[in-house]
Amino acid sequence: MNRLFSFVFTFACLAIWSINSERAYVHDKLVRLEPFTDEHIHYLQALEETTSLDFWTEIMAPNRSVDVRIRANEYDQYVSQFKQYSLPYEIIVNDIQEVIDNEEKELAQDRLMRQIQSRWLGEAEPRIVGTYATYKQMETYLDEKAAADPTHIKVIDIGKTYEGRSIKVISIKMNPASTRNIWIDCGIHAREWITPATCIWSIEEFINEYNNRDPIIRQILDKWTVYVAPSLNPDGYEYSQTSGNRLWRKNRFPTNALCNGVDLNRNYPWKWNTGGASTSACSETYCGRSAGSEIETQNVVKFLESLKGTWDMYMSFHAYGQWWFTPYGYTTGLPKDYQKQLATAQAGANALTAVRGTKYAVGSISGLLYIASGSTCDWAYDSLGIKHSYTIELPPTQQQSNIGFVLPVSEAPAVCRETYVGMKEFLNKVHEDTAQ
Ligand SMILES: *[C@@H]1O[C@H](CO)[C@@H](O)[C@H](O)[C@H]1NC(C)=O
Ligand SMILES: [Zn+2]
Repeated sequence: MNRLFSFVFTFACLAIWSINSERAYVHDKLVRLEPFTDEHIHYLQALEETTSLDFWTEIMAPNRSVDVRIRANEYDQYVSQFKQYSLPYEIIVNDIQEVIDNEEKELAQDRLMRQIQSRWLGEAEPRIVGTYATYKQMETYLDEKAAADPTHIKVIDIGKTYEGRSIKVISIKMNPASTRNIWIDCGIHAREWITPATCIWSIEEFINEYNNRDPIIRQILDKWTVYVAPSLNPDGYEYSQTSGNRLWRKNRFPTNALCNGVDLNRNYPWKWNTGGASTSACSETYCGRSAGSEIETQNVVKFLESLKGTWDMYMSFHAYGQWWFTPYGYTTGLPKDYQKQLATAQAGANALTAVRGTKYAVGSISGLLYIASGSTCDWAYDSLGIKHSYTIELPPTQQQSNIGFVLPVSEAPAVCRETYVGMKEFLNKVHEDTAQ
């Protein structure tokens, strides 16, 4: 009876939750542009810098396609501009809201199944490994991990967000004598939901595999304390989950009357605003009022700097595109450690691909893709001096832009699993490179 009641209750909650969310993307279109001249590229760069158009893929070079979301009420205006510039375009998704509605339905089902499972097993909380959890659920998960092994696992509150949430980092220190550290973060861009899921999956596997005496994980965790931050942008993440604005990217700082949010991955205090970032508040790549202006940035900077000199690896997860990036983003110049970084990243990517064929391209941000300044990766390498600093863009590929950020939750476990396998081999290689 009790179980039946909780089943009905849960179902009712989910129904209300679905009805509550507004639908912000009705008839918004995803359009693929085929720029073929330098003028096209300059025109698109100007759009990205000065408007709130939502570019899903990067503006690279002539003859490299660019996918952009265009709001329903702005569509005609932009199409007439494209025609004026002789810029070829095609519609890839006719109604983005439909894609989001489908994801939401699937996620509601997934949550319901997990609720039922937890009631059935008599567990207090539904399991969140392999799904898109709420920020609160992730906080609870971290606390449970620490409570289960307080000697080795701690949850650190590195500071508040603009809206007053705590940015939580879990530290896993299996060897009390270890003095070196590695860092993994996820979720700096709110809508990239697969990334917090990947961080949670990794925490679960690090702990389980260590306790199950996996030799490679033993070696890794006996050398390093691992710090994992499942979400560097909890305000944005919460907003993307609860407000109906599924595609929100930035933080929630109210910049002006028109537009909220700073792109935290353009706000880091190194080569700030030196290209590939915007100074207009409504742009999706708005870099903020000054270098490190955002409280979320400051908290991370403060924490990592407090342990400066002890870090052997920095990794930041993003979506999407299937890229494994090394520095730099701000310049096409390559760092002195590039060859070693490339080989290490390639080893990780190869191990990842071996799981089920998912292919990654490996190389520097600016070399493979575009100039982007103020990113965490350059800052970690240059300012903190972390030789092994990387950014990973998880699936899907750019060719699968009809999903883009809205990766169905049913695909999350497979993506998390292969990524973890790749990361394990990668860390093994970093370990070899940093062995005394
Ligand atoms: C792009 O493609 C067009 C048509 O195939 C070609 O004429 C042009 O040279 C290409 N531009 C570049 C920069 O490759
Ligand atoms: Zn991102």
